Amino acid sequence: MAAAEKKKRKSSKSNNSLLDHLKSLHNIEDFREQHWEGSFEDYLELVKKNPTITRNAFQRVYDMIMECGTEEYVDNKKKIVRYNFFKAEKFGGEDAVFGLDIPLMRLVNFFKSAAMGYGTEKRVLLLHGPVGSAKSTIARLLKRGLEEYSRRPEGALYTYYWKIPHEEASDLYPNGIEIMPCPMHEEPCNLIPVDIREEFFKSQGVDIDFNTNLNHELCPACRFVFNHLMQKYDGDLSKVLSHIHVKRLILSEKDRIGIGTFQPKDEKNQDSTELTGDINYRKIAIYGSDSDPRAFNFDGEFNISNRGLIEFIEMLKLDVAFLYDLLGASQEHKIKPKKFAQTDIDLVILGHTNEAEYKKLVNNEFMEALRDRTIKIDIPYVTRLAEEMRIYKRDFNANKIKGKSIAPHTLEVAAMWAILTRLEEPKKANLSLLQKLKLYDGKSLPGYTEDSVKELRKSATREGMEGISPRYVQDKISNALVSNTRNYVNPFMVLRELGSGLKNHSLITNDEQRKRYLELLDVVKQEYEDIIKNEVQRAISADEESITRLCANYIDNVKAYTQKEKVRNPYTGQYEEPDERLMRSIEEKIDIPPSRKDDFRREVMNYIGALAVEGKTFDYRTNERLHKALELKLFEDQKDTIRLTSLVSNVVDKDTQKKIDIVRARLIRDYGYTDESVDDVLNYVASIFARGDVKN
Ligand SMILES: Nc1ncnc2c1ncn2[C@@H]1O[C@H](COP(=O)(O)OP(=O)(O)OP(=O)(O)O)[C@@H](O)[C@H]1O
Ligand SMILES: [Mg+2]
Repeated sequence: MAAAEKKKRKSSKSNNSLLDHLKSLHNIEDFREQHWEGSFEDYLELVKKNPTITRNAFQRVYDMIMECGTEEYVDNKKKIVRYNFFKAEKFGGEDAVFGLDIPLMRLVNFFKSAAMGYGTEKRVLLLHGPVGSAKSTIARLLKRGLEEYSRRPEGALYTYYWKIPHEEASDLYPNGIEIMPCPMHEEPCNLIPVDIREEFFKSQGVDIDFNTNLNHELCPACRFVFNHLMQKYDGDLSKVLSHIHVKRLILSEKDRIGIGTFQPKDEKNQDSTELTGDINYRKIAIYGSDSDPRAFNFDGEFNISNRGLIEFIEMLKLDVAFLYDLLGASQEHKIKPKKFAQTDIDLVILGHTNEAEYKKLVNNEFMEALRDRTIKIDIPYVTRLAEEMRIYKRDFNANKIKGKSIAPHTLEVAAMWAILTRLEEPKKANLSLLQKLKLYDGKSLPGYTEDSVKELRKSATREGMEGISPRYVQDKISNALVSNTRNYVNPFMVLRELGSGLKNHSLITNDEQRKRYLELLDVVKQEYEDIIKNEVQRAISADEESITRLCANYIDNVKAYTQKEKVRNPYTGQYEEPDERLMRSIEEKIDIPPSRKDDFRREVMNYIGALAVEGKTFDYRTNERLHKALELKLFEDQKDTIRLTSLVSNVVDKDTQKKIDIVRARLIRDYGYTDESVDDVLNYVASIFARGDVKN
């Protein structure tokens, strides 16, 4: 074989395997399912086998959400259901919604009651909240979810097109048509005349609730063709239906199938044809009338969103005239295209509006009509620190920001500040705003029970409806990432950005508010100092050997003390009284007053005794309080020998440097610092210690 030939073969072989690989990735079963086509009769068979394919839009959305499962948890004695759908795992966590479980419960209840036909299906769903509170995110998630659901067998839905050979259609359309898809992608069962539909399915033993499902009439365009063919075939329904080809309906926002978005432009430019379709003027010449459905494009946003969901961005900016279209669409499930009768629609209407827009219209009279027909769900900002942090962790993690790192606590302080701006000042005099934040975050504070936290939440009625939006914080973190030349950002850089951006923040209307936000930045800074001081202290004393030794020493003394014995001095071998000074210097670190010391020592001994009975030995790490006390004591003993403060003066002797390097390595190992960010923290804490401000 010639070499060239061989080469060619080889390359075609490798091409083949590439294609094979491609093919293996592509799921042919799915493709075939999604491109299923059949006759009208085939479709009736499908319905008989599985009536859920005829679900209405609300039922479909509800099932889609429930299919992902739920989790239950108790928050301050309140049972809460978390709907996994909003974790957006199908979309890689993008568009996940955090910390809004209660509003989302209300949202899902809306769908549940609408799915059952209890009345909410006749209302407009209005998400209302401050700017940047995830309203659009929730809407986007529902839309993406519907697209994805419609592609799977569980969410399958169907529509149809007419196929009429040219010669048979010439009286219908002068040039004849071959194919006419239903412009509103209707449910094929709508082709069965309403007066016999229920009876028909009953006779087939198909269980469908006709109060909520399959009670729609054909759209004007299909009705026209249908009537025409009925005439032609002298009322022979089966002949008419032989022109019907049923196919799967895959919802797609990009293709304007079953999912629509409407955003009002300026007031003068609004035109109802955008919602309900428009006359096709070229075709009027052919058909002679503007009320002929053949001369009309049923491509308004309502038409194309049929079977799925329509989103109204900034709904309250809609012109009043539009609003009545909207109200009709929700209340009657009908729209009125120009010159045509009312047309049935099956879709979820989801609007959103921000707080400012809503306030503007509260006293407006047409709002009354709207308010009466909408179900408003408040979407507030997150008020739980851990949840707010998840928003930023999703956006700024190692996968998303390449080549830069984020120092520990950076996202935490940003989130902390954002939440502080949203909280209402506690009415209890002895509770600080920061303490309230911690209580909300599930931390415990002496004197506060789950009930009192519940009370706190209850008494702050507008909490989360004001304050700084996550969008502002996201922008400032991005700024900090790009604007500094180092390859990492730390909390100070981000706090600085957050502060300086306030000068020209468009939503801050008065100086008082700006002043308050700046003060809250100081609160956060203070808290951050405490956090890192604590970390450095722990790193200094994280010397396990020393702690173990100190611990053993303490326990020996406590044992002797409680049993009224003497302790053997390991160096001299002599028996001495227990070392009261040593014991107290440890106990004082965790605020044990002299009056409680006997109790505490007995508790420790009981604990050790109980372990011994089980044949276990004592490990200080299992006793949180003792562990902390030992660490603090060790820190106190060592801080002078390490002389962290000498870092500030830049003259460090060899011995100290060695000790500092150990602390440095521990900070990197235990707290996630990098080589660079750790120096910032050490220097900063050293400067605090240099001020003599050591925390016990
Ligand atoms: N609870 C939350 N969970 C997850 N992400 C959130 C949450 N709140 C806000 N975000 C994030 O904040 C940003 C703004 O959210 P979104 O655009 O959905 O807000 P919006 O309420 O529609 O705002 P606007 O009123 O300005 O239109 C997004 O990046 C979003 O992911
Ligand atoms: Mg939005």
